[in-house]
Amino acid sequence: MNSNSFLLYANWKMNKNPNEVRSYIRQITKLIKLKDQKKIIFLAPALTLFVLQEECTSSLFSWGAQNCYFKDSGAFTGENSPLVLKQMGITHCLVGHSERRTLFLEDEQLILKKVQALLQYSIQPILCVGETSQERKSGKSFEVIKKQLSLILKLDNLKNITIAYEPIWAIGNKQSADVVQILEMQQYIKKLCGSKKLCFLYGGSVNIQNAKKISQIQGVNGFLIGSASLNPHDFFKIFNTI
Ligand code: PGA
Repeated sequence: MNSNSFLLYANWKMNKNPNEVRSYIRQITKLIKLKDQKKIIFLAPALTLFVLQEECTSSLFSWGAQNCYFKDSGAFTGENSPLVLKQMGITHCLVGHSERRTLFLEDEQLILKKVQALLQYSIQPILCVGETSQERKSGKSFEVIKKQLSLILKLDNLKNITIAYEPIWAIGNKQSADVVQILEMQQYIKKLCGSKKLCFLYGGSVNIQNAKKISQIQGVNGFLIGSASLNPHDFFKIFNTI
């Protein structure tokens, strides 16, 4: 992947069946021009990943999972194996999305184990961090992010991890974080990780109206986009505006 490429991660969450994924990829493939200096990574529900494997012919596309467990196999009903993701050619996987932290009670220890399991198979972990609105209002944003990153910071292969800053108050909202908030957090996270080269994504209500402005913030290497990635035409408009 060209290091100058802007990265657009589509987080489809628990949306789309295999037929819908097939139709989406066929539609967006027709719209994309190969000379574009951007990459799209579809983070699809596990039950549809095989369709991406079949349909993604453009070199601008990659695909990945939204979650996995940290063991290869065994008595872990309902979980996805990182080994099988690797065998299926999956190159990326989300870890610690705020919905997993809140609804499925994932803690820092579990998230660390998942990151390590993915790194073992050279699958790029996209680690999500973000504060609640209450935490931001009480001036605790940086402290919260530091805590969420504390175990990960001890790893020696940090450059292989992508960090997605997704303030919880901006997810699924009409209002994204503003330019100053994103810039400050980008600088803070890169400093904490000791690397300006770390891949930093912003997520939280990225849409056609704000995508261009946010993409121009220094140090933002890409987006993690939820609702605005669900329709191929809307997502293509964002792709095109950057
Ligand atoms: P959103 O979701 O773009 O709908 O705010 C982003 C995410 O949860 O990853």
